[in-house]
Amino acid sequence: MKSVDIVIIGSGLAALSLADRLSNDKNVIVLTKGKKYNSNSVRAQGGVAASMSEQDDWENHFRDTMVAGCNVNNHEAVELMVRQGPGFITKWIEEGLGFDRDRFGKILLGKEGAHGKRRILHAGGDATGNVVMEFLMNRLQGKVTIVESEMVLDLIVEEGNCCGVITSNDQNRISTFHANHVILATGGCGGLYEVTSNDETVTGDGIALAYRAGAKMVDLEFVQFHPTMLNTTSDISHGLISEAVRGEGAILITEKGKRVMKDIHPLEDLAPRDIVARVIQSEINNGNKVYLDISMIDNFETKFPTITSICQHATIDVKAKLLPVAPGAHFLMGGIKTNLSGLTTVKGLYAIGEVACTGVHGANRLASNSLLEGIVFSNMLANYLLNLKEETTLPLVSLRATGSVRFKVDQLPTKAEIRRLMTAYVGIERTEQGLVHAKQWIEQFELNSNQKLDITKISKQDVEKINMLTTCKLIIKSALERTESRGAHYRNDFPVADNEWINKQIIRQRSIMRDKQKVKTEVVK
Ligand code: SIN
Repeated sequence: MKSVDIVIIGSGLAALSLADRLSNDKNVIVLTKGKKYNSNSVRAQGGVAASMSEQDDWENHFRDTMVAGCNVNNHEAVELMVRQGPGFITKWIEEGLGFDRDRFGKILLGKEGAHGKRRILHAGGDATGNVVMEFLMNRLQGKVTIVESEMVLDLIVEEGNCCGVITSNDQNRISTFHANHVILATGGCGGLYEVTSNDETVTGDGIALAYRAGAKMVDLEFVQFHPTMLNTTSDISHGLISEAVRGEGAILITEKGKRVMKDIHPLEDLAPRDIVARVIQSEINNGNKVYLDISMIDNFETKFPTITSICQHATIDVKAKLLPVAPGAHFLMGGIKTNLSGLTTVKGLYAIGEVACTGVHGANRLASNSLLEGIVFSNMLANYLLNLKEETTLPLVSLRATGSVRFKVDQLPTKAEIRRLMTAYVGIERTEQGLVHAKQWIEQFELNSNQKLDITKISKQDVEKINMLTTCKLIIKSALERTESRGAHYRNDFPVADNEWINKQIIRQRSIMRDKQKVKTEVVK
């Protein structure tokens, strides 16, 4: 058994940013089930949203975040994020983080869906996540141990306190890590769907671990589908075509040249993601192909090197100026319920980043607010942990895994079957009938309620499937409970929740955009 102050599970931006803040004062270990670069943060193309230009302020960013989130966001969390974000970013810039600049050295700001202003900082063109993560990895060098290929099977909770984790490595060796604080930063659940922008390791593990430990979940029905994943005839998820491409003027058309977002929403191709994703999906369901027309973007390959390389891998020629697209699972707005400092409802257990739900994203996340969330809320948790009074190490009683597994381990479905189910019945559009079918399908793999299995006796591959099934079940339950259509949760059998406030804000946003139409690129000092 190893003993540390703090165990962080996951190696994305929220995890490493927290480790960075704690590393001088605490004994921290980072555990990741894949390699350290396996995270959604590394894949982030668009960038980081922050009101850093003179034409912008936190209130504008606040309003855009609320409109995209359908006004069900936690106001306090949004205000905290958009007010504190620019300060943290400025600090990182001063410490050497290289965002893209114009030839006069001013930081370039891009535009993405549902933003009324240009406020997206980006790096390496469309390699923002990669650049930010490299910056963080370098800072942690020699200060924090990142253990790769160490999958957390379960959390240890004794007398109501989370005090460690049980893991299994590549050789299936079981280990125990004892810690006063356990942080879940495992990302969302894109891997529950057939097409996703997420890293292959992101399969809802954090949600399932927290659930087995007794933590409360919230808003799990809100799963965001990114409108523009590169779409080819193969089943493989090739990767994302960033919204920044539409921010630079690209438009969505069918193979017959019809503009798919015209007259659908005042912001047209830059409407909130849930709306654009549904429109594209409905064109596809009607037998049409949808393309991003990039013919108006000069120097596409230089501006978007990552996307160019994704296209090359998929043998799509960007010179043809038409990129085939379809929606794919992208981001989980709901998650483990936390307060603004990352505390869950289980003592000693914390959550940050996509796996957590402070309510900051409401029903639909605004583009490029996820890296910002990771930066701001990891700092909130760091402040909390660093200000705690001197702690006494909790005594360990039994060191047993918390969770009892309630699935038939010898009869689990394949991952592909789970993904097919979620895509068909719990995807972009849902109905009660479909959700009930999905619920019943999962129930066939469950044990009778009084039967329990020891998780340490189950292979990692099966634990991953059990985590997927657990997370699916929770999403389906929430989706059945929300009997309305709102943001990313669209029920064919219920109308879209009316919201006068949102409509007014969209009209306001449209007039701001019209005023700015001629401005191609804004810069900050
Ligand atoms: C994108 O680049 O379109 C994705 C950015 C995000 O999800 O915030």
